Amino acid sequence: MNPSFSVQYMTAVEGKVRAAHMERFGVAGTLFSAPARVNLIGEHTDYTGGLVMPMAIEFRTVAAISARNDGQATFYSANYGESRSLDIASLERAPQGHWSDYAAGVVWSLKQEGISVSGFDMSLEGDVPLGAGLSSSASIEVAVALAILSLSDVTLPLETVATLCRRAENQYVGAKSGIMDQFIVAGGVEHRAMMLDTRSLAYDLLPLPEEIRVVIANSMVRHSVATGGYGNRRDEVEEGQAVLRKVFGREMLRDASLEELEECREKMPVESYLRCRHIISENGRVLEAREALHAGDLKRFGALMVAAHASMRDDFAASCPEVDTLVEIALRQEGCIGARITGGGFGGCTVNVVRTQDTERFVAQVKSEYEKATGIKADCFVSSPSDGALALAAKGEAK
Ligand code: GLA
Repeated sequence: MNPSFSVQYMTAVEGKVRAAHMERFGVAGTLFSAPARVNLIGEHTDYTGGLVMPMAIEFRTVAAISARNDGQATFYSANYGESRSLDIASLERAPQGHWSDYAAGVVWSLKQEGISVSGFDMSLEGDVPLGAGLSSSASIEVAVALAILSLSDVTLPLETVATLCRRAENQYVGAKSGIMDQFIVAGGVEHRAMMLDTRSLAYDLLPLPEEIRVVIANSMVRHSVATGGYGNRRDEVEEGQAVLRKVFGREMLRDASLEELEECREKMPVESYLRCRHIISENGRVLEAREALHAGDLKRFGALMVAAHASMRDDFAASCPEVDTLVEIALRQEGCIGARITGGGFGGCTVNVVRTQDTERFVAQVKSEYEKATGIKADCFVSSPSDGALALAAKGEAK
């Protein structure tokens, strides 16, 4: 495992965007970038005011921007070799089911906020695996937002950047996601995981001990937040939340206890009961996980990850056989402290906490056993907690 691999690679992505922008638009452009994220624990809690513990990772989306003076916005994706132009003044909510919706959605959301957006050309390129549950969409949204805001000479606090980008995803693209991804992608801090209260947006930065590494393993089963399972789960959760609101006056599931849920069990469909049970218990696990990190109790942290996976699989029904296999294989390996599904679910990646000295062997074994069991070649990445986009910009990344 070469720890400098991703750093060199990201520099290459920046170089590619710069060259693509120059070739296409004839100017160098100013560069911005935003990372992807992985969630250590706290899944599907962020749209009911709950707790999450993500970290930004070393994959990034890079945006190069330059001004144009005809009120048009052009987005060019070097990944897809495609571009989309739109007239900023007349932009309405009209998603096209295309990668560019995330970028156009940010323009729309900034306009909704009353921010005046003038014409620009933008080139985008990233190395975030798509459909892997690592939040490639938030990475695009936040990179695009920072680039446009900088061109417009507007500085906004973290909460506002995250909220504007979430609105792009919820209301323009139509994915009913919570705020976790946009918040950590914008506000992550190097060497730190973040415990975020998605209701108050208060957060704690948590150091991860040197003796562990975070390994992300991609099951290669594609996941999507914009379609299917994610939206269904949200509807099921909302139905349960509505019952708890009516019976106990709990505005958000975050405030409800497992005892209250039990009392309401007969008043809601069994699916809603199970989904809510996952969320309420998961909030408790996130709090315990923070305590475990503070106490340096990795055994406890790992046990909480294992319990979180079981809950996501059994109560939330958002895993899949391949991901379960990947977790089971991981947990059999020497030095594996904890493993679970991460992100929206229904495929995507697992997150694994592994003792540093066992990491290389862990990756090799997991890949080989997963291929034997499923016939699928998994990608594995080792990532330290990275800076989010705002921290990168503050460190002078914009050139
Ligand atoms: C997706 C969403 C997030 C969150 C997770 C599940 O990543 O974008 O808001 O709901 O799923 O924890």
